[in-house]
This record gives sequence, C-alpha cells and structure tokens, in this order.
Amino acid sequence: MTEKERRKRIRQRKEARSRVLRLRCLVFFVILGLAAVVVLIGLTRYRGQAGAEKEMSVQVSDVTEEVNTEPVPEMLDLTGNIRKQGDLILVNAGHAYDFEANRDLALVRIREAQTYEYPTDKESFEAAEKIMPALDAMIRACDEAMGTRETSISSAYRTEEYQRNVVQETAELYGEDYAAKYAAKPGYSEHHTGLAVDLGITYADGEAGSFSESPNAVWMAEHCTEYGFVRRYAEDKQEITGISNEAWHFRYVGKPHAAYMKEQNLCLEEYLDYLKENTEENQPLLIRMGTETFKVWYTVAETIQKPEGDYAISGDNAGGVIITAKI
Ligand code: DAL
Ligand code: ZN
Repeated sequence: MTEKERRKRIRQRKEARSRVLRLRCLVFFVILGLAAVVVLIGLTRYRGQAGAEKEMSVQVSDVTEEVNTEPVPEMLDLTGNIRKQGDLILVNAGHAYDFEANRDLALVRIREAQTYEYPTDKESFEAAEKIMPALDAMIRACDEAMGTRETSISSAYRTEEYQRNVVQETAELYGEDYAAKYAAKPGYSEHHTGLAVDLGITYADGEAGSFSESPNAVWMAEHCTEYGFVRRYAEDKQEITGISNEAWHFRYVGKPHAAYMKEQNLCLEEYLDYLKENTEENQPLLIRMGTETFKVWYTVAETIQKPEGDYAISGDNAGGVIITAKI
C-alpha cells in the first residue's frame, strides 16, 4: 500500500467514525424528545384526573349539605317545673301543691272574667283563667236545663293561708273529725291549683240553698265531664282520695280525660296510675270523643319529639308527665 492509499484509508475511517457519532447523537436526541412527549402527556392526564376528582368532591359536598338541611325534629323539654304544672296535676294528702313551681299561674276574678252571669259567694273569688270558658259554659248549661239561674260558686282558688282558715272554721263548726274528712291540709288542697270550684245554690233573693240536695247536683254529676270537669270526691272512692263524698267539688282536668274517667269510673288517682302503668309513647291510650281522637301517654323522659298538631302537656305532680295529642 502506498503512502497515498494509506492516508486515504485513514481519512475514510475518520469519516466513518464521524458518521457513526452523528447517528448516535441523532438517536439520543430523538429518544430524549420522545421521553419529553411521554412526560408531558402523563402530566396532562394527571391534571385532568385531579380536576375531575375536585369536581366530584364538590358534588359529594353538595350531597352532604342536602342531608344536613333535612328538618331536624323539634324536641320538647320536659324537665323542671312542667312536672308540677298542668290540668292533670295530682294534689292530695300525699302530694303537696308547689306554689313556687306555679308562680306564673294566671288567675282571674270570676266576677270580672265570667261571660255568663252567675253569683259567687264573695266578689274576690278567683280561678285559673284557662278554666273560665268551660266553667261558664257548664253553669249556663246547668241553669238552662234546670230552668233557673241558681247555680253559684261557693269557693274557688285558695291560698295556703285561706285553706288554713277553712280547716280551722270547719273544725270549729263541725269538729276535728269532720274537718279531717272534708278539708285538705293547707298546701295539699286542689283549690290551690285554681282548677277546682265548689258549686252552690243561690236563690234570686240571695239566700243560699243546699247544692248536694238540689237537682243541679244530679245534672252536674252527669254532665260535668262534657265540659272537662270531674266530680272529684265520690262516695265509692273515699279510700283512695282520702276525702269524703263531696257533691259540690268539681275539678277541671280537660275533656278527653274527664270523659275517660267517667266512662271507666276512675278517680284522678286511679286514672294517673292507669296511665303510668299502661301507657308509653308507642302504646298510648286512645280516647275517642265524637269525631276527635286523642292519644294519651305517660312518660318520665326528659325530652320528647314535639307531637304533630294540637297537643297538651301536664305534669302529674308525682315525677311524671302526661302528653295528650290530637290525632
Ligand atoms: N274540700 C277539699 C277536699 C279541700 O279542702 O281541698
Ligand atoms: Zn272544694
């Protein structure tokens, strides 16, 4: 090989190496470019997914908000004074009336509040405001049935002091034994509630008659429950009530309760015991009166769900509460 040929060959080899190097560079940059494209596509996809997830979480949170806006059931608090207030509270020798718990009791002068004019032995007589419509209607109906206007009020609301005087005067007039049978001890009289009245007879000339011996007493015993009152102290219940037969004493308890007590011949002590032993929210006593039906149950719960529609709540003055709901 000549010198010329040798140089030519060296040059050819150099050119060949240089081509290989350029090719490798090209391949490297192509691969780098492809990798960059792959990374970009990956990033774009990730961002898209993240966005979708964000949208989903908004939807989830919207759904959660919808759940939270569903109406929360309204609850009634049955703790505190409520257990010593109401139309069904028991006040007898074993259950004192709590004046402090009932300090907001609304009393009215009967003479001023009455919408039907009937006499009261004293102008100062008061009663719970809420019984006035029923009391007026009952006395009016009795007078209309009798064809006279002789039904009167001989006693109504009494303070503890007033009751002390009643007991003393009764004992002075009729003896201690009689007083014990007919007059409750101060603090233990239904007259403290403003829900009880004693009925009398007052003739047109102002003279007093005997209610017990009048036809009015018979009519009242039969019809008082139609107005929400009960004849509280019956002959056959004196062992339970602790009070002897009083034809004149009427106690407001509310219409459905009065109707049921009459139908079943239960005094208030027996009725409250019955409710306590036999009823609960899911197993109420149903009282039907004409087209109306009432659900009645006893509870010691501290809160209950507010009944739908009309309802009334009364303590029993013995630790429990009675709910009366119209259905
Ligand atoms: N006569 C009734 C029992 C009273 O004194 O409260
Ligand atoms: Zn009385």
